[in-house]
Parts: sequence; C-alpha cells; structure tokens
Amino acid sequence: MERVAVVTGSNKGIGFAIVKGLLQRFQGVVYLTSRDEGRGKDAVAKLNQLGLYPQYHQLDVTDRLSITKFRDHIKQKHGGIDILVNNAAVANSTALYNSYEECKTIVDINYFSILTIQELLFPLVRDNGRILNISSDCGHLSNVRNKYWIERLSKKDLTLEDINEFVNWFLDGVKNNTFNYDDIADDGKIAAYRVAKVALSANTRLQQKALEGRNISVNSMHPGLVQTDMTRGVGFYSADQAAETPLYLVLEAPATLKGEYIWYDRRVLDWYDHKADYYFKTINLKQ
Ligand SMILES: NC(=O)c1ccc[n+]([C@@H]2O[C@H](COP(=O)([O-])OP(=O)(O)OC[C@H]3O[C@@H](n4cnc5c(N)ncnc54)[C@H](OP(=O)(O)O)[C@@H]3O)[C@@H](O)[C@H]2O)c1
Repeated sequence: MERVAVVTGSNKGIGFAIVKGLLQRFQGVVYLTSRDEGRGKDAVAKLNQLGLYPQYHQLDVTDRLSITKFRDHIKQKHGGIDILVNNAAVANSTALYNSYEECKTIVDINYFSILTIQELLFPLVRDNGRILNISSDCGHLSNVRNKYWIERLSKKDLTLEDINEFVNWFLDGVKNNTFNYDDIADDGKIAAYRVAKVALSANTRLQQKALEGRNISVNSMHPGLVQTDMTRGVGFYSADQAAETPLYLVLEAPATLKGEYIWYDRRVLDWYDHKADYYFKTINLKQ
C-alpha cells in the first residue's frame, strides 16, 4: 500500500517547504494543495524544476465542498492518509486591530476550518498516522490574560464546546464593541489570530484523545518567526529552515509524542503555563 502525505495551504511559505522536504525524505506520495489552482500549479512547476514531483489537488480549508471533493479523491485513489499537516492560515499583521469582518475571516481560516477537516479528513488518517497542526507562539495559553478563560481552557475535562465558546466570546465582543483588549497579551494586538491559534492548540489535545485508540499522534507546533509573506519577510530564519521541525515531527519523532505543543527548536513546552513568556510580541515584526 502506497503511503500518503498531505499538506494544506502549501503553495508557498512553510507549507511549500514542508512539501519539498517530504518529497526528499518520505517514502510515498506527497500532496501539495492550495485554495487557488493557479497558484498551486505554479508551485508544483517550481518543484518540478528541482526534480521533485508532488501530486496536486485543490483544497480550500474553509470550503466544505472543496474538502469533501478532496476527501473523495484521496479515498478513491489511495484509501487513506498517513501524514496530515494542517498548515493553511492567514494573519493580518499590517493592521494590529482588526474589524469584525477581518476577525471572522481569520478565525474561520485558522480555527473553524479544522473542525471540518477533523470531521471529513481525520477518518481517512490510517492507524499509526501522524497529524501536525501548525500553530504559533500566538497559540500558547500565555496569550490569554482573562482569568476565566485561562481556567476554562486548562480544565482536564475540556470539551469542544469550551473552545468554541472561547472563540465566540471573542468574536461577539468585537462585533458588539465590548471586547476588552487587555484580555489578550500584547494589548490585544492581532487578537483574532491569537484566539484562533490558542483554540487550535487547545483542540489538538481533544483530537489526540479522540484518535488515541488508533495510535495516531496529533501535535501542534510553533514554527518560529519565519521569513514568509505572512510576516512580510521578517524572521530569524527561512521557510526551508523552519520546515525542519515539522518534518522531524511527522517523520522521525518518537510515536509516543502525542497531544503536545512543540517549539521550533523541538522543545516540548508546557502549554498550560499561562504565566510563561512564550506569547508573541508584535514588536518583533518591526525589524
Ligand atoms: N511565518 C511565521 O513567522 C509564522 C509564525 C508562527 C506561525 N506561522 C504559521 O505557519 C503556517 C504557514 O505560514 P507561512 O508563514 O508559511 O504563511 P504564508 O506564506 O502566508 O502561507 C500561508 C498559506 O496558507 C494558504 N491559505 C490561506 N487561506 C487558505 C485557505 N482558506 N485554504 C487553503 N489554503 C489557505 C495560503 O494560500 P494563498 O497563497 O492562496 O493565500 C498560503 O499557501 C501558518 O499556519 C502560520 O500561521 C507562521
């Protein structure tokens, strides 16, 4: 049986670099996917020039129909997925405070999409497979300053309802102009991105619990501050360098590493340490 790896949002940036690394190191078929077919095919052509040959499929993570079509394609052609990297995301780092519409888009792409993916694609992940959610330092619990939500998100018996209510608390607050930006670190700058990534990392633990019986590992990670379009080129290393830890996690890390939050240097951090200094500081974008 042919092994299969899939990376979402992989027409550029870190996702593209992960696809490149998988093509060089993974024994199996590698899917480059993108929401825009033209951008995806251009990315495939770039890899072809390097002598690397990914499979391509359109995949917009906010579009249920697109995910369904991709699911059906994989099911029919390969029967399952061995490695799934949930990388697709957007940030709005030019405006540090976003309108409700912008916040909704950011949260839809960075968080709510994962709920459709877990519903439609997770059942295809084979026993002993690996799922990696690309989160951020914005996804560490220390980005949250509201005592009630710190406690609720830290509960041992956390549910998806807790996480969704956290996200909706934020969105409703922005919509009604009642959101207190001190409830999020760094004066609430890029709050929507932080809330979405905190929710993604929190949900990683629930996903792990759900897939434990099939020995599938699910982790979330922060790739570092990386020179991509998302940061407008600011960062302390390149996308290729940033892809190394994700590649390690899906290809080499011990199978016992499960449900964790991992730093770009492979350190497993305590996600619950809400007083830690791991939260993102927007001042780092001004280099
Ligand atoms: N760069 C950093 O410093 C940094 C730091 C922490 C975390 N991260 C995380 O690392 C991951 C990769 O980021 P990056 O820096 O490589 O960003 P990037 O260069 O902006 O790439 C983001 C990718 O996601 C795709 N995407 C956006 N919305 C999508 C959708 N609805 N469906 C499918 N694909 C979609 C984009 O496609 P289009 O080309 O069509 O827009 C693009 O391919 C993200 O999860 C990001 O949050 C990055």
